[in-house]
Amino acid sequence: MEILIWAVCFNLVSVSVSNQFDPHVYPDVGPFFEGWYMRLIDFSTNNSYGLLFGHVLSIQSTNSSSPKVLASLLHRNHCIENNNTCKLYSSNVVCRSKDLNVTVRDAPVIKNPDDKSPPHFTWQTPFGLFTQTNNITTFHFDFGKYIFRGRIGQPVSWGPDGEGPEGWIDKLPFVPLHWFVFSLRSPVIQYELLNVQTGQLVGGTNGVVHMEKNWGNSFPKGWIWSQGVSRHNISFALSGGLVSLGEITTTQYLMGYRNLAKNLNLNYRPGNAMFSATHNGCGGLFEIKVYGLLHEIHLSASADLSTFSDCLYGPEITGFRQACIESYDAIINITVFKREFLSLKKIDTQIIKFSALEFGGKYTCNGQCQG
Ligand SMILES: *[C@@H]1O[C@H](CO)[C@@H](O)[C@H](O)[C@H]1NC(C)=O
Ligand SMILES: *[C@@H]1O[C@H](CO)[C@@H](O)[C@H](O)[C@H]1NC(C)=O
Ligand SMILES: *[C@@H]1O[C@H](CO)[C@@H](O)[C@H](O)[C@H]1NC(C)=O
Ligand SMILES: *[C@@H]1O[C@H](CO)[C@@H](O)[C@H](O)[C@H]1NC(C)=O
Ligand SMILES: *[C@@H]1O[C@H](CO)[C@@H](O)[C@H](O)[C@H]1NC(C)=O
Ligand SMILES: *[C@@H]1O[C@H](CO)[C@@H](O)[C@H](O)[C@H]1NC(C)=O
Ligand SMILES: *[C@@H]1O[C@H](CO)[C@@H](O)[C@H](O)[C@H]1NC(C)=O
Repeated sequence: MEILIWAVCFNLVSVSVSNQFDPHVYPDVGPFFEGWYMRLIDFSTNNSYGLLFGHVLSIQSTNSSSPKVLASLLHRNHCIENNNTCKLYSSNVVCRSKDLNVTVRDAPVIKNPDDKSPPHFTWQTPFGLFTQTNNITTFHFDFGKYIFRGRIGQPVSWGPDGEGPEGWIDKLPFVPLHWFVFSLRSPVIQYELLNVQTGQLVGGTNGVVHMEKNWGNSFPKGWIWSQGVSRHNISFALSGGLVSLGEITTTQYLMGYRNLAKNLNLNYRPGNAMFSATHNGCGGLFEIKVYGLLHEIHLSASADLSTFSDCLYGPEITGFRQACIESYDAIINITVFKREFLSLKKIDTQIIKFSALEFGGKYTCNGQCQG
């Protein structure tokens, strides 16, 4: 109930200035977190790299030593030695909250973002800098052993006027966790990853970047997330899991699929579709059927168990804690059917390789990553 009241107050004070990718105002008391995630796919090498960074305002009744400001680099590694299966590795760097400087239009964050205005912000710590201005993203992070930096071009947004996966749901004041996709496939202008110890430098100019953000109280008790994009501009992203509102816990999903060549621009969420999903974190498998009014989607995701990371950090009410596992080698099979009178007609089927697949909290194998 506390969470409800707090969330209502929080929304009432929100006044709008820019796109939801921009930072939100931090409340006086936690729990609250805000975290950004970008995933770059290099089409020349089929490799991919993830960058996560965020800040947790923990609940007051704790003095947990879990980090409050953290950035993680995710990268596939040791592929050749491991028979060409690439495990995902993470490198992490942390700092104190007072060493984080988040600004919107070069000023402190005093208003929450609106939907429509383009984002314009900087997230800066001693170890890293991320800026989003004038449709250009730049980042430069020092993870000690690695330096990851780049410049990314004009975003391809999820929907018009700053619409994200939640559609109207993000206007409901009591939703405990939000998900916004800023770009499905911004073009890479240039990026590089330097291994400081060996001097090895990889990089490129041929790829795309998915960019998104979560904010709210904490990650849920259990969740799934998946994202992929092909070199033919077919893309999808989905997330879902256990959403708790007070005493009530339900399972909810959000999903989007784009295939411009077939004029498919499908968005599903509670309220416009029914979902039926099974997840198996021990087998690296996930399947979902989405029943929309005009279309039905069958999606299956699978990734070799050897490609999954060890437990990665996620935002929880006491700080960043080990929360989820992820693979960048998932194979997604997505089939779209169109509803016709008394039948379904298959209109599109795609295999999207090198997709991301994440199992979090209770959805990890035997709950292996729960704080
Ligand atoms: C990348 O993947 C595509 C599709 O699977 C394949 O056709 C291509 O040869 C791969 N390129 C490299 C460099 O591995
Ligand atoms: C805070 O830290 C102190 C010393 O480490 C410990 O004794 C105490 O139990 C902690 N309090 C909470 C609420 O975790
Ligand atoms: C490497 O992969 C091949 C083909 O999948 C398989 O037959 C072989 O057993 C694997 N070797 C090791 C050491 O895992
Ligand atoms: C935070 O960043 C802004 C904009 O770059 C700068 O003007 C300000 O001095 C910085 N504040 C601190 C405490 O570093
Ligand atoms: C950013 O992209 C949007 C959408 O394509 C466009 O309307 C806007 O003019 C661009 N802004 C800048 C500063 O280039
Ligand atoms: C993918 O989209 C980009 C612009 O977003 C365009 O330049 C490119 O030609 C498209 N590629 C294909 C294969 O359609
Ligand atoms: C993809 O899924 C469709 C529908 O479930 C199925 O008919 C097809 O055989 C699958 N393709 C592959 C390569 O697994």
